[in-house]
Amino acid sequence: MSNKLHAQWSSRLAFILAATGSAVGLGNIWKFPYMVGESGGAAFVLVYLLCIALIGLPILVAEWLVGRRGQENPANAMADVAERAGRPRIWWLVGASGIIGAFLILSFYSVIGGWSLYYTLGSVTGAFSGQDADGIGELFGNMLASPGLLLAGHSVFMLLVIGIVARGVSKGLEGAVRTLMPALALLLLVLVGYGMTTGHFGQAVAYLFNPDWSALSGDTVLAALGHAFFTLSLGMGIMMAYGSYLGEEVNLLKTARTVVILDTVIALAAGLAIFPIVFSNGLDLDSGPGLIFVTLPLAFGNMGGGLILGLMFFLLLTFAALTSAISLLEPVVEFVEERTPLSRSLSTLVAGVGAWALGIAALLSFNVWSDPVLFGLGVFDLLDKLTSKFMLPLTGLGAIIFVGWFLERRGVEQELGLSGGMASLWHLVSRYVAPIGVIVVFIASL
Ligand code: PHE
Ligand code: NA
Repeated sequence: MSNKLHAQWSSRLAFILAATGSAVGLGNIWKFPYMVGESGGAAFVLVYLLCIALIGLPILVAEWLVGRRGQENPANAMADVAERAGRPRIWWLVGASGIIGAFLILSFYSVIGGWSLYYTLGSVTGAFSGQDADGIGELFGNMLASPGLLLAGHSVFMLLVIGIVARGVSKGLEGAVRTLMPALALLLLVLVGYGMTTGHFGQAVAYLFNPDWSALSGDTVLAALGHAFFTLSLGMGIMMAYGSYLGEEVNLLKTARTVVILDTVIALAAGLAIFPIVFSNGLDLDSGPGLIFVTLPLAFGNMGGGLILGLMFFLLLTFAALTSAISLLEPVVEFVEERTPLSRSLSTLVAGVGAWALGIAALLSFNVWSDPVLFGLGVFDLLDKLTSKFMLPLTGLGAIIFVGWFLERRGVEQELGLSGGMASLWHLVSRYVAPIGVIVVFIASL
């Protein structure tokens, strides 16, 4: 174990900004709004909030709790917290699986971050101006077909991530989120404000909020469950690592509630920004990356003020991706820093360059190396499926089962400030509801 002084967040607000920065990502900007619209509007939002409250929030709290008790990287935190509770150290496996998951996700997440950078640049240079659907489709296709372009975007993005994380928790992570999160909120507000002027804002509001209970099905409930997990960046060691820089004075439940509300509000606001543009330009809604990288650029290229609106949108996307990517690198760096003699900067360099190298394999799977490597999947899809379908749910499940079943009940209740009925509710949720929820999603997604 290293005896370097362990870093701490400088305030509760800084921690909230960092955790929200991790949570707010592509999941909020295209996935959630689309899911809501497709799956019953307000009816789906209610189901989703229930999933968040019963599964997402408890696992978020469990990860923070273990991290804070351990004050070290997720693998060591799990082992030490287990040992102190009289349990075998083998629980380190849960933390290690999170760290590995974060490393694998970062490798291909950075490739998408590169797309976002490329499109930000494209907005500045007017690459979308006057293009028709074919032209915009070609732009996207050409980017994917070019290893050089993808590599450039991926490399610049990863360099930014490394540069931020290398500076440490207070200068690096906090410094970045203190600037990027307010900027993100401001950009989003302006884009929602623009949406209000399009004459299609009411349509967007109706799409998002009109309750349609008949659109709810088993599948949409499962999707809500899965998304509750993904949207809070759970199962990646991220929240454990972020929790390890927390002091005793922070109320975990209240803070979790704040982060969950911010994440949901931002996701809904993204819908109110995007859908008016889609509707007023008569475009098709699309569930995949197509919405962001094909449909929206088409609108931006052909509407008044599209140059500046497009720039704001892709900046928003880049900022959201950046604050998520730094949170992916952090658990890996914390591990390397604590387990090797390397300094913070060198640990960041080693972890970041490792993820960058793997990312190259991922980006080549869009062009020169598109043959399947395993299970009929290319590298990019393989990394995506392996992490999202297996590693994340199992790691999150491990964390909540550990806290619910293997830590002393009184101690946890005290730490969370719970007594009476609330304590019983936590007991029920952390032992049964949340684990069973994750198991159901896990099995259903296979
Ligand atoms: N929570 C992010 C989102 O909703 C997704 C994410 C996954 C972020 C993994 C970081 C790491 O988009
Ligand atoms: Na999210």
